[in-house]
Amino acid sequence: MKFQPYNRLRVLAVCFGICFSQIIFSQTNISIDTKVNTLLSKMTLEEKIGQMNQYNGFWEVTGPTPKEGNAKEKYDHLKKGMVGAVLNVKGVENVRKLQEIVVNETRLGIPLLFGFDVIHGHKTLFPIPLASACSWDLDAIEKSAHIAAIEASAVGINWTFAPMVDITRDARWGRVMEGAGEDPYLGSKIGAAQIRGFQGTDLASNSSIIACVKHFAGYGFAESGRDYNTVDVGTSTLYNIILPPFKAAVESDVKTVMNSFNVLNGIPATSNKFLQRDILKGKWDFRGFVVSDWGSGYEMIDHGYAKDLKHAAELAANAGSDMDMESYSYVRHLKQLVDEGKVDIKVIDEAVRRILRIKFELGLFDNPYKYCDAKREKELIYHADNIAASLDMAKKSIVLLKNENNLLPLAKTQKNIAVIGALANDKNSPLGSWRIGSDDNTAISVLEGLKNIGANITYAKGADLITTPTSFSEEVKINETDKSEFAAAIKLAKKSNVVIMVLGEHGFQSGEGRSRSKLDLPGVQQQLLEAIYKVNKNIILVLMNGRPLAITWANEHIPAIVEAWQLGSQTGNAIASTLFGDNNPSAKITMSFPRSVGQVPIYYNHYNTGRPGPKSEVFWSHYGDESNKPLYPFGYGLSYSKFEYSNLKIDDSNPKKIKITVAIKNTSAVAGEEIAQLYIHQKTASVVRPVKELKGFSKIKIGAGETKEVVLYLTDKELGFYSNNGDFIVEAGTFDVMVGTSSEDVLSGSFYKN
Ligand code: BGC
Repeated sequence: MKFQPYNRLRVLAVCFGICFSQIIFSQTNISIDTKVNTLLSKMTLEEKIGQMNQYNGFWEVTGPTPKEGNAKEKYDHLKKGMVGAVLNVKGVENVRKLQEIVVNETRLGIPLLFGFDVIHGHKTLFPIPLASACSWDLDAIEKSAHIAAIEASAVGINWTFAPMVDITRDARWGRVMEGAGEDPYLGSKIGAAQIRGFQGTDLASNSSIIACVKHFAGYGFAESGRDYNTVDVGTSTLYNIILPPFKAAVESDVKTVMNSFNVLNGIPATSNKFLQRDILKGKWDFRGFVVSDWGSGYEMIDHGYAKDLKHAAELAANAGSDMDMESYSYVRHLKQLVDEGKVDIKVIDEAVRRILRIKFELGLFDNPYKYCDAKREKELIYHADNIAASLDMAKKSIVLLKNENNLLPLAKTQKNIAVIGALANDKNSPLGSWRIGSDDNTAISVLEGLKNIGANITYAKGADLITTPTSFSEEVKINETDKSEFAAAIKLAKKSNVVIMVLGEHGFQSGEGRSRSKLDLPGVQQQLLEAIYKVNKNIILVLMNGRPLAITWANEHIPAIVEAWQLGSQTGNAIASTLFGDNNPSAKITMSFPRSVGQVPIYYNHYNTGRPGPKSEVFWSHYGDESNKPLYPFGYGLSYSKFEYSNLKIDDSNPKKIKITVAIKNTSAVAGEEIAQLYIHQKTASVVRPVKELKGFSKIKIGAGETKEVVLYLTDKELGFYSNNGDFIVEAGTFDVMVGTSSEDVLSGSFYKN
C-alpha cells in the first residue's frame, strides 16, 4: 500500500470533515491485521500509549473548555491523541463533539471507543441480571441484551462493561445483583447469551456494541461478602467455578475483558501475569484487549504491591493489562518506563494492536460517527418494542417461592385487597442500582401495575423504608425507628380480605459498594409484617430485593411469597399480571437462599466433607443451632401448574453421548413452563467432586394434563473437570445422575463410565 505525505492527507481530511485514518483505512480489500500494523508503524510512542488510556467523561462537552485541574489535563490529552477511549459520556451530541476533536484535531485521527455500564438495559431497564438469570431463558436474555445494545448504540455508546460473570456464593456481597448467581454452568450459558445479544452477528452493524466480560478474576469471592475485600480461593475452585464463565465468554468471541480490584494469591488481578498472560491470552488465545477496572492501577499502591503510580504502570502493562481506566498511570509514566527499558516496546505494540483491531472491527475507521445518529436516538429510546421485551423478561424473572392452599393467583373479581409497604409505591427502587444511563423514577410501581389491571385495592404505606432520599453515590439511610404509620396499615388490613405486602430492599442497597452484614428485611419491615399478620393471615408477600434474603420467619408464617427482585421499567405490570394469573410464574432461583446469615456462603455444589451425616450426635459437619439446608435451594421455584417427574432413563450405549430421558406431567388444570434440571456427581475422582453439579437443563411448555418427555445428553465436556494443574480431564468411574425440578427435588440413577 502506498501512502501520500501526511500533511496533504491531513488537509484533505479536515476539508472533508473525515478522519485521516479513515482515508487510508476504509479500503475493504486489505485485512484488518495489515491495517493495524500499517497504522501502528506510523504512530509515535505517545500516540500508542494514548490508545491505552481511558478517561471518564470529564466535562460538559457542550460547555466551556476546561481551564484547570484534571479536566484540563484530560482535555489537552484528548487533543494530542493521548486518549483511546472514554466512559460515561452520554448522548449523541456529546459523543459526536468528542469524536470530532480526536478525528479533526489529532495527528492520526484515531476514533475513540465510548464505554458505559449498560448492565440491564440502557434507558428501558430490564430486570437486574440476577433476576433475569432466574428465567433460565437464554433467548429472552439474549434479546434483552440486544435491546440494551440498540438503545446504547442509539445514544453513541459502542462498548458496554457487561456481562459480569463473577460466580458468587455470598448474598452479603452487593454485586450479586449484577451476575447470574452461584453456578458456573448456567453462568457460562447466560454470559454467552448476553455477549451474543450485545455484539450481534455483525460488529459493523450500528446496533452492535462490543461486550466486556468482567471481573477477571475472583472478584465474586470477596471475603465475608464485603465488596473490594481480599479473595483467597483454592486452585480447584478457581479452575472449576470461577474461570469457566470467562472461558465461555472468550469462546463466544467477547471483544474485551475487564480485570478486577481484588488480589489472587496476593497478586492484584490488574498485574496478574498468570491470569492475563498465561491463561487468558495464552491458553485461551484471547484476541481482544484487557481493560483495567476503574483506578485498579493506582489501587495497587494501597494493596501494598506497587511502590507508586509509575511502578503500578510497569506492573500492569507487563502483566497484560492493555488499557488503563482512569488511573492516569499509563499516560503519565509508560513512556519513561519504555525509555528506561522497564517496559518493552513489544508490550506496548501488542496492547495497541489489540485495541486498534477492535476499532477496525467495529467499523470506526470507516465511519467514526456511525453511532451518532440523532434520528436513531429519537426513534429507538423507549421504543414500544423495547418496553414490551422488558415486560416479557420481567414476567419470566418472577419466582414463586411459596403458595399455600393456592392463595395465588387472585381472582380478577377479588374485592377488598389491601396493599401495604413503601416499596409498593416506589418508582425508583425497582430500577435496580445499575441504571446510570436511564431516568430516575420511571418504573411502573406495583400500585400503578395493580391499578392498570383494574384490581380493587386500597393502599397504606405502613412505614417508610428510608429516612432520606438517596442517590447512586450515597449510603442508604434506612428507617429503623419510625412506626407511626403502622396503625393505619393495621386498621386497613383488619377490614381487608387479602393483603399484598411489598417489602424488601431499597434499590441502592445492592450493587457496587453495597454489601450488607444482615440479610433480613431492612428497617422496621419485619415488625410491620408481624404486626399485620396478627390481624390478617391472608398475606401475599411480594419481595423486591437485589440479593437472596434470609426470610425464615416469613417462610414459616406467610402463605404466599413471590420473589419479584428489581424488575426494571415494567415492574408493576409484571407483578400485577402474575398475582392475578395472567402470567404463570416459571422462574427458578440461581442462588441459594440462606436460613440465616451464619450459613453464608451457602451453595448447592458443595463438597460432601468427611463427616456429612449425623453418625454421632455432635461430631459431624453441622451447626448446633441451625440446619445445614438452605431456606430455598438453587433451582427452586414454583408455578401455578404442578409438575410430576417419572421414568428416568439413562442410556449409556454410546459412551461419548449418554442419553438421559425423563417424563414430566403437568397434573394441574393450568398450562405452564417447567425448567427441568440435570445434575451429576462423580462418586470418586482424583480431585473430590461436588455433591452435585448442574450439567444441563431444558425449559419446556407443558399443557394442562399433558405429559412431555425431556431428553438431555452428557458428553465428555459435561463429565470432565479441571485438575489442580488447570488441565481438563475426564476420569472413568461411577456417575450419579439426578434430574428434577430443583437441585434438591430429583429422580436419581447412575452409570459407569469406562
Ligand atoms: C466497576 C466496574 C465498572 C467500572 C466503570 C467499576 O467501579 O467495578 O464494573 O464497569 O467501574 O464504571
